Amino acid sequence: MTTGSNFNWIAPVYDALAFMVFGHRLRRAQIIFLNRIPANASVLIVGGGAGWILEQVLLKCHPKKIVYLETSSQMVALAGGRMLRKSLTGFVDFRVGDDTALVPDEQFDVIITSFVLDLFTETTLQTRFLPPLLNVLKPTGIWLVTDFVQPKVSWQKALLWVMIRFFRLTAGIEAKTLVNWQQGLRLAGLVQKERQRQVGGMVSAEVWTR
Ligand SMILES: C[S@@+](CC[C@H](N)C(=O)[O-])C[C@H]1O[C@@H](n2cnc3c(N)ncnc32)[C@H](O)[C@@H]1O
Repeated sequence: MTTGSNFNWIAPVYDALAFMVFGHRLRRAQIIFLNRIPANASVLIVGGGAGWILEQVLLKCHPKKIVYLETSSQMVALAGGRMLRKSLTGFVDFRVGDDTALVPDEQFDVIITSFVLDLFTETTLQTRFLPPLLNVLKPTGIWLVTDFVQPKVSWQKALLWVMIRFFRLTAGIEAKTLVNWQQGLRLAGLVQKERQRQVGGMVSAEVWTR
């Protein structure tokens, strides 16, 4: 699935920008449900960016293996560099690409997507992004999602509007408005098991199963 976005240009400054706007709050949201990952799990991280979440999963979850699927080669380079710099150990299979880089018959206990579902339109999410990932999620698997949800407060609406425009310009993301990804997951046959609102309600950390 080629969605056209390219985070290579923004990759070196992505984490710094996120910190400038949100402090550590986006990171805190992403780790809320990491303790739901069973030991020895096979984990698929999709769009993990510069690798902070990879470090957290390696340190906190003791997975059997991680596939790190990222369309941005710069992000993958940063994530690999982070592993080396921090002397992180664990079996990580870095793949530059999208779902087409998944191997047939591959199955995962856990899929993690943080601030990725919001890049797409409803149609792309439902027809192109979610189905191939669901194919590789074990029947007993869990999907950990952290992402923006429709804000109710005016300043949050304005911030989201600016962010979407910024990433359309700098990374060519497809979304023009925030997609209702929860509905997308439900339509794809998943069930929401847990949810915690973060960042003043504009981010939701969730656990989904079949
Ligand atoms: C908004 S960034 C979020 C990065 C990271 N998850 C974080 O929260 O810091 C979205 C990331 O998803 C990646 N991405 C976009 N489409 C993808 C796809 N179809 N498969 C894998 N990665 C993708 C981008 O390259 C980018 O690094």
